[in-house]
Amino acid sequence: MRQNTALAVEPDYDVRAWLAEQEHKSLLRFLTCGSVDDGKSTLIGRLLYDTKLIFEDQLAALERDSRKHGTTGEDIDLALLVDGLEAEREQGITIDVAYRFFATAKRKFIVADTPGHEQYTRNMATGASTADLAVVLVDARQGVLTQTRRHSIIASLLGIRRIVVAINKIDLIDYDQATYQRIVEDYQKFAADLGFSSIEAIPMSARYGDNVTRRSENMGWYQGPTLLEYLESVPLDEAADARPFRFPVQYVNRPNLDFRGFAGTIAAGSISPGDAVVVAKSGRASKVKRIVTQDGDLPVAVAGQAVTLVLEDEIEVSRGNMLVAPNGRPHVADQFAAQLVWFDEQALRPGRSYILRTETDQSPATVTDLRYRINVNNFAQEAAKSLAMNEVALVNVSTQTPIAFDSFAENRATGSFIIIDRISNATVGAGMIVNPLRRAANIHWQALEVDAKARAAQKHQKPAVIWFTGLSGSGKSTIAGLLDKKLHLSGRHTYVLDGDNVRHGLNRDLGFTEQDRVENIRRVAEVAKLMADAGLIVLVSFISPFRAERQLARDLLPKGDFIEIFVDTPLEECARRDPKGLYARAAAGEIKNFTGIDSPYEAPEAPEIHLETAGKSPEEMVDAIEKWLTERDTAEQEYDDGGGI
Ligand code: ADX
Repeated sequence: MRQNTALAVEPDYDVRAWLAEQEHKSLLRFLTCGSVDDGKSTLIGRLLYDTKLIFEDQLAALERDSRKHGTTGEDIDLALLVDGLEAEREQGITIDVAYRFFATAKRKFIVADTPGHEQYTRNMATGASTADLAVVLVDARQGVLTQTRRHSIIASLLGIRRIVVAINKIDLIDYDQATYQRIVEDYQKFAADLGFSSIEAIPMSARYGDNVTRRSENMGWYQGPTLLEYLESVPLDEAADARPFRFPVQYVNRPNLDFRGFAGTIAAGSISPGDAVVVAKSGRASKVKRIVTQDGDLPVAVAGQAVTLVLEDEIEVSRGNMLVAPNGRPHVADQFAAQLVWFDEQALRPGRSYILRTETDQSPATVTDLRYRINVNNFAQEAAKSLAMNEVALVNVSTQTPIAFDSFAENRATGSFIIIDRISNATVGAGMIVNPLRRAANIHWQALEVDAKARAAQKHQKPAVIWFTGLSGSGKSTIAGLLDKKLHLSGRHTYVLDGDNVRHGLNRDLGFTEQDRVENIRRVAEVAKLMADAGLIVLVSFISPFRAERQLARDLLPKGDFIEIFVDTPLEECARRDPKGLYARAAAGEIKNFTGIDSPYEAPEAPEIHLETAGKSPEEMVDAIEKWLTERDTAEQEYDDGGGI
């Protein structure tokens, strides 16, 4: 990728140095959104150009490029200044978020340039996460369009409270006041429910510079500020340093026994030596002894600064925790409501276990309830069972361990999180916390005196979950049944959980949609865990088609106690055997969502035991499993003399 402007740099690159120079000025972060043709890139180019931050040599390069790619004849094409990617130039659209920096005598600015294409909600979410204001571009010839509404709704959801409606290309409608007025009214009417604190409309021509940084001579009827005047003077919301102190601990810095500091970036508030702090999750209290930086100790540090705090007492503060003001504490909870934006092509599955990551903390988490989906075209609340790419919903989230957080409205840094897929490790969603949800106060974890070890010891066996996965008709239940019999006869305490059987009772409310299968496996995984906790050797025989839920089952158990057996019988062979006549019915279209036919099966990638069943008898396979189990126990007994299977 070639950068065609030195201004198009990553935010944490040499910008830090630049920002340091500008420290005395206030900083406004804003976001531009508009569709491909609204002239967004031209507008940003105009701002950069007019604020004289374009270096001479870049200008020369720009003139050359304008001749090659430009769409404006001999004039310099300002859009080329910001459309930094070669590819997007060739396609004529903007395809990724880029941050630009400029400054005037009054203020400095960071602008996130986000693409207007429908599928780029994700990029907008990225660009908006820290923005104070959004400039929504409207083509004066088109007026308020679906995408104008969509961008405004997303901006509102992302916590932006100030909007500039940039009514662009006003030259193309002959600077017509009536048309401008009509667009402003349309927008105000539409945005009335979006919770914006201000909506400023400005008629402009980015191409010719009217009302961008220079007052237009063509619109005597417009008395308001130019865009730049407005951006320079718009009041910033309550400064982050005025809010209660928040210090998410990034890491514990302990170079030697004499020094122990907590490193991180202050997310809100300010701190001085002597100030009291508490650890958000444990409530343990101490005082700040020193604020250490590379340039020496500080007497005070404020939001945005990266520092190392040394406390007066040796209290336990691990990575992932937060040091906070004792009199303004964050929430600590394992359940909360949040707005969730989904990024991934694979839809969100309520009930599936994902990794939730806040700025410093992480925990396995599930969406327990999809309360409603928010239609980003009209703000309607819609019923939904899952969430597809670019969709937004209000959800309830449950984390395995409590996390410390603020609501997103109070603090964007400590009120947001991302969702990571456990299998692919990709970021699949981003969330904004609305409020904590309290668990029914009368439910507590009951610590029991007879524990798993005592129960297992009484049965003289090492509990295990032997998990058979494979297509319907692959032979899982036959093999599990035989193994069960052998183990039982040799004095083991076992139990078989079979999909067909469990679906008659505990899971009788579930069908075969992906949704229901996720829940089916979640429940049986929890039951298997309880049974293993009771000291049993549990044989689970479920298709369990998804890797994520099998992983979840594995994660519920102590390491080594989950044994995944892939009963690998080709689909053709299962369909040929067709023990229950279901393949024939699925082929005839009588059964929908049949695994292997019109519902996916994700084969295990690293099962403990891989049984290729072709040409083997069930007895041979059970022998193979027994052999594997015995070898495992012998290996383990070398370390520990406890009983084995
Ligand atoms: S799972 O996918 O949710 O793990 P489970 O093992 O509980 O499935 O149930 C599978 C059994 O249900 C199959 O062995 C078969 O007898 C029956 N069945 C009925 N409809 C379907 C279907 N659409 N897909 C798969 N199995 C089905």
